[in-house]
Amino acid sequence: MHFQNGFDQDPLIRFDHYVIRHVYVHIPFCPKICPYCSFYKEASDRNKTQAFLDAVLQELDLRLNQGLILRPETVFFGGGTPTALTAKQLEYLILGLRARIDFSDLDEWTIEMNPATVSLEKAQLLLRLGVTRASMGVQSWNPEILTRLGRVHSAEQAKSSYTLLREAGFTNINLDLIFGVPGQTVDVWHRTLEKTVSLNPQHISAYCLTYEEDTEFFRRFQEGELIQNTYQDASFFETTMAGLSQAGFQQYEISNYAKPGYECRHNLAYWLGRDYLGLGPSAFSTILTERWQNVSDTSRYIESTSPVAFSEYLSPETRKAESIAFGLRTYYGVPSQQIEPEQANTLIQEGYMERLENRLRLTTRGKMVADSIAELFV
Ligand SMILES: C[S@@+](CC[C@H](N)C(=O)[O-])C[C@H]1O[C@@H](n2cnc3c(N)ncnc32)[C@H](O)[C@@H]1O
Ligand code: SF4
Repeated sequence: MHFQNGFDQDPLIRFDHYVIRHVYVHIPFCPKICPYCSFYKEASDRNKTQAFLDAVLQELDLRLNQGLILRPETVFFGGGTPTALTAKQLEYLILGLRARIDFSDLDEWTIEMNPATVSLEKAQLLLRLGVTRASMGVQSWNPEILTRLGRVHSAEQAKSSYTLLREAGFTNINLDLIFGVPGQTVDVWHRTLEKTVSLNPQHISAYCLTYEEDTEFFRRFQEGELIQNTYQDASFFETTMAGLSQAGFQQYEISNYAKPGYECRHNLAYWLGRDYLGLGPSAFSTILTERWQNVSDTSRYIESTSPVAFSEYLSPETRKAESIAFGLRTYYGVPSQQIEPEQANTLIQEGYMERLENRLRLTTRGKMVADSIAELFV
């Protein structure tokens, strides 16, 4: 644990009527743990869920008592797998939030799902309670790739869960995909993209597989059993950009593609450097000069009166640097005056960046090395 500014030891800190527009809730339960995933999660545990839901509402009360005003434009239930909760538990949580928060400015409410945890009853309930956007982890339509990824569902189950979301009335759906899986060919990936496009979702997130520390995949990668082919990853990425652009999707962030008007506003708020409150184990919050992270342990989160494990002071310079690094990953880029002219000109001359009126953004070449470019600014 790091205590850098004493914030986490000071539950009396006041945010004097500061208005927060973006709220994240982390739900750490999953039907089965995937070997590549490093998000904080655990296998669903029926004995813990009610105490977890009460702890989230208690944390919310703590922040409201500190003077935060929540008038969310966006809410994001992420995880883990929020739909690993039962319909009754989801209803309890959402009604608990509704009793405490004014949702009259709400624009978008996303919930992440795993295809194995979707039912018509849950989908209809979520819509009735105000959820507007479903984000489902499909990863691949290829049975062998799904097995390699250790997914709990089949391609058929993902397809029927998608149909069911549509039947329930969801009109804003994202599907998550992963490329660069060992054994995946560009042809197999191309077919996954084609199948996804044919279902007509409003949004597609296509991530390159990363070998995250503390995962089974990372161990197998280090032992040489799983091999990363960065050259092939680049061609997966190029195939994705070209294929989805042709299908009418705008790449508005390195890994995110949307039909016009369907960009995820919650994630955009992060990338554009807005403040947000995160509730639940492992959730981050960034408000004014403070960033903190809750403890990544559900039992400790439930038991503790102050769930914060880590906090840091963010200087205006740090916040500006972060908004350049994240802003550059988006279609909108950053205002030209935020980047030193000499640095901007070098990146433009090398073909990584382009100027559009008074903004700077990455070219296709720049997107291929977006992480390295972002590092120049943080
Ligand atoms: C919280 S999960 C989505 C909902 C649900 N838990 C599921 O997996 O179906 C977030 C997404 O992150 C992506 N992801 C997780 N670990 C990843 C990794 N190591 N590399 C690339 N993408 C990853 C997957 O596409 C996954 O769908
Ligand atoms: S990818 Fe999704 S279902 Fe798999 S472990 Fe991570 S959060 Fe859970």
